[in-house]
Amino acid sequence: MKKFAVFGNPIAQSLSPTIHQMFAKSCGELIQYDKIEAPLDAFEDSINHFFADENTVGCNVTVPFKERAFAMAQHKDAAVCLAKAANTLMLNPQGELCAYNTDGIGLVADLNNSGLTLAGAKVLLLGAGGAARGVVHPLLSAGVTTLHILNRTVEKAQAIVNDANNQHVTAVSQQALLAQYDVVINSTSASLSGTLPAVPDAILANCQLAYDMVYAKDSGSTVFMTHAAKLGAVQQLDGLGMLVEQAAAAFAIWTGKQPATAEVIEYLRNR
Ligand code: ATR
Repeated sequence: MKKFAVFGNPIAQSLSPTIHQMFAKSCGELIQYDKIEAPLDAFEDSINHFFADENTVGCNVTVPFKERAFAMAQHKDAAVCLAKAANTLMLNPQGELCAYNTDGIGLVADLNNSGLTLAGAKVLLLGAGGAARGVVHPLLSAGVTTLHILNRTVEKAQAIVNDANNQHVTAVSQQALLAQYDVVINSTSASLSGTLPAVPDAILANCQLAYDMVYAKDSGSTVFMTHAAKLGAVQQLDGLGMLVEQAAAAFAIWTGKQPATAEVIEYLRNR
């Protein structure tokens, strides 16, 4: 049986096995997909051991190992190089480790699912950590023409802009914001602690979509989504769709099959 896994620490909370087993079933594949809690001081050994099994096809990598997964790989595409973090690994036919970051592909797919047109869109990205880095290249590839990054620490936003080296991306201060963005994406970890990143009310009031990359667990809404809804944002979404779509992109890289995602998102939403 083809073998897959997700590596993290902690990992008990991961929905990846459920998601990938649903994909496998719908694509007529029989797979093993495990959760592996790699020791903090032995992630690389765990990965090497995993790929030494001839049944292994690929793995996902999550917190706190994405940067180390990126560093280990021999082959890296432009998106993963800008992200400096990998969430998907596989071996090529020569047995070399290839790294991908499908988080941004997942975000773009979920934004498309919401009905938003990304070609020519004006996007405000809040935050400049690893989560923000991972989505910049795919947003640009999707045709976003204005990508403004607003972060508490301006230097971190500027560092992403420098690495992206693309005329459509700019680090902005609150004073330099446009009057209107099509979508405002919260990539900060503020939602995890129930707080809000600083952004003028008018920006959220005037956007089509307020998107929180964190997914809402029980209430169906994050503090950011609730705040944006109160201010009058037309639509609010959490990151559950992105989670499923990034998994679908990884599944496609590994198997060449593009799984249907809507029923998986629906299942997890109503779980
Ligand atoms: P991740 O890998 O999830 O992106 P990270 O690299 O620690 O995590 O980055 C978290 C991001 O959220 C950072 O941009 C951080 O802002 P700073 O760069 O100024 O530290 C942002 N962030 C976290 N809590 C925040 C808050 N309460 N308000 C605004 N921004 C916040």
